[in-house]
Amino acid sequence: MHEDTQKITDIILKAASKARRETRNESQKRHAGKSLIWPVDCTIGPGLEGAIACDSKIGYVDGSKGWLVYRGYDIFDLCAYSSYEEVSYLLLHGTLPNPEQLEVYKKKLVEYRYLNKTLRLLMGFPVEEMNAMGALRMGTILMRQEFTYKDQESGRPDFYDAISADEDSIPMETMPTGEKKAIYEFSAAKKARKRKKMLGDASGLEACYHLLAGVPTITAAISRVRQGHMAIEPDPGLSHAGNFLYMMTGKRPTRVQERIMDVALILHADHGMNASTFASMVVASTLSDIYFSIGSGIAALSGPLHGGANENVLHTLRQIGSPENVSAWVQSASEKKKKIPGFGHRVYKAYDPRARVLGPLAGYRMKYCPEEIIKLYKTADVLEKQVLKTFGHEKKIFPNVDFYSGIVYSRMGIDPSMFTPIFAVSRVAGWTARVLEYLKKNRIFRPRAMYSGDFEREYVPLEKR
Ligand code: SDX
Repeated sequence: MHEDTQKITDIILKAASKARRETRNESQKRHAGKSLIWPVDCTIGPGLEGAIACDSKIGYVDGSKGWLVYRGYDIFDLCAYSSYEEVSYLLLHGTLPNPEQLEVYKKKLVEYRYLNKTLRLLMGFPVEEMNAMGALRMGTILMRQEFTYKDQESGRPDFYDAISADEDSIPMETMPTGEKKAIYEFSAAKKARKRKKMLGDASGLEACYHLLAGVPTITAAISRVRQGHMAIEPDPGLSHAGNFLYMMTGKRPTRVQERIMDVALILHADHGMNASTFASMVVASTLSDIYFSIGSGIAALSGPLHGGANENVLHTLRQIGSPENVSAWVQSASEKKKKIPGFGHRVYKAYDPRARVLGPLAGYRMKYCPEEIIKLYKTADVLEKQVLKTFGHEKKIFPNVDFYSGIVYSRMGIDPSMFTPIFAVSRVAGWTARVLEYLKKNRIFRPRAMYSGDFEREYVPLEKR
């Protein structure tokens, strides 16, 4: 490994040993869950907090310990020794690839990076005026069209598959009055039109690969057009992270930039049942398809409570202005009960392991950075210490993945408006992996609402109201 990139690995391993010391090197093994036997009891709060949506082997988050595990591998080990190509393969397939499997997979990703037709269609829209996540979502729909001609009748799922996914067997708000087991008789399906040669199944593994490789290409094209430039052709000789950076900035990244982007993509790849992953799974559970479900993940991630906090962190750091102003600012924020971007988490009540890695990477060789970035980083460093000192530990509010990622991306010359699309570039691995896993034992998501409204109200004609 190149001397500089070895330094990045050393930083990660140092963060890992600090984290393990703080949890007294407790073994994660004893937290292994057993496969669920449905139905299960769980205490549920608003926003489905605490609800168990499914059984999964893909990833594990321990909020009290600050642990993040992908398919049994600790996130620090994956950042130190693996790559986004290996990790996305691991999330999808359950095992790390052997050399042959990795070669085949990498070739597939390189092949799917080329989306010339899709980009030509996308450039027909005012991308430079659109919300970047809106343009990205549009791009995935155009990919779907290119890859599957999905809107032809021939692409729809089989009727009987759809019905079996829809049986109600647990009493709902109203007892099912129909058949116990949904038995539907359709008139013999019209002779299926001659199947148009479908380039690929919109709900299969190929579609996942297509999106894993295509979302970076579309994100980069959107970034270039927003800067007033043309999209850049992929470079088949570069790694996933290296090619993404090249297509985003027009410059081939240094080894260190490529390595840091690769680590950032690994860190954002999966995170349990977060809102965007759950949104993707809900759409897929209706037997829609991967493109539509990833599009809903992108839509969910565009909400400021889920994505975009790293953009707000930079805005906040600029607002604070300098390390000297932090203390007064935190005091005022605390009095106004202001939520500080980049802090707090629904699950982590300990230090987010992703922030433990991104923090030192943001500060790596900081002295060579422009003055503006140095000031941002120093202000962030003091802000972190000040929040933890005042109410962080007491309220269990720690830096999350978004606190330092904005500084990392800014150092690479990436505009803040592209930070959330970069999150999607990485999270498409977790979204597709969890959708594929869920579809193996699919059951359409259909929670309940407790009805607290009226009954038997008398209808009053319009003229009497
Ligand atoms: C992501 O789910 C995932 O896994 C998401 C994610 C992923 O990888 O997919 O990790 C990505 O979404 C990271 C989070 C990025 N968002 C932000 O940084 C925005 C700022 N954070 C907050 O909006 C908040 O922390 C949430 C939304 C992230 C979590 O909110 P919760 O768990 O619903 O917490 P809460 O609103 O119930 O707050 C509990 C207490 C409250 O104080 P009290 O009312 O009890 O006195 O903690 C306080 C909150 O005021 N609090 C904060 C705070 N976050 C919570 N106080 C100051 N600053 C904050 N950031």
